[in-house]
Amino acid sequence: MIKKIILISTITSTILISDTNVTTLGEEAIMSMVKSLKHTLKGAIKEGGMVNGANVCKDSAVAVERDVNSKLNNIVVKRVTTKPRNIDNTPSQDELKVLNEFEKTNSKKSITIKIDENHYKVYKPIYMEMKVCVACHGDEKTLNKRAYDIIKNNYKNDKAIGYKKDDFRGAFVADIILKP
Ligand code: HEC
Repeated sequence: MIKKIILISTITSTILISDTNVTTLGEEAIMSMVKSLKHTLKGAIKEGGMVNGANVCKDSAVAVERDVNSKLNNIVVKRVTTKPRNIDNTPSQDELKVLNEFEKTNSKKSITIKIDENHYKVYKPIYMEMKVCVACHGDEKTLNKRAYDIIKNNYKNDKAIGYKKDDFRGAFVADIILKP
């Protein structure tokens, strides 16, 4: 348990939290990232179909990550996967262990790892839960060909294909440094 920490909320106000559960803190940060990413992807697909989604994704996903993280204090949220499309989402050794654990158990529950006294990582697994995911991460049968042409052009070493609906895809990681 943590005595007292100050968190700048995702809105703007400063909230003083005592005895905060670090898992909740991480999960909340991840939720705000999930919301923003989904909102951006949905908007792009609605506006111009899957091809537009593929185009928008390249710049927007990274911009959304930066924007959400800039509003979080002492927390950085990122995505990691063993088959990255964006090379920046390659896991470190400690993150790889947790990914393997999810892969084995297929658990939907988040995992919190204490790195040291004030440093934690909260992991939330990502599954291919929505049908739309396979249009850009699926196999020959499910990939949207025109969208994937664009993706392949943008990510020469793309590994993030071959997934089926409900497959384990990776995890969100909230990297949390607590201020004592
Ligand atoms: C319109 C195409 C498109 C759709 C639909 C799509 N993605 Fe992606 N996805 C991308 C692109 C492009 C990237 C690389 C850009 C980025 O996010 O950094 C990416 C990256 C990711 C990453 C980060 C790891 C990596 O490989 O770099 C995860 C995790 C992910 N997608 C999961 C999903 C899930 C789950 C769904 C369904 C809800 C989904 N994607 C739907 C195009 C798409």
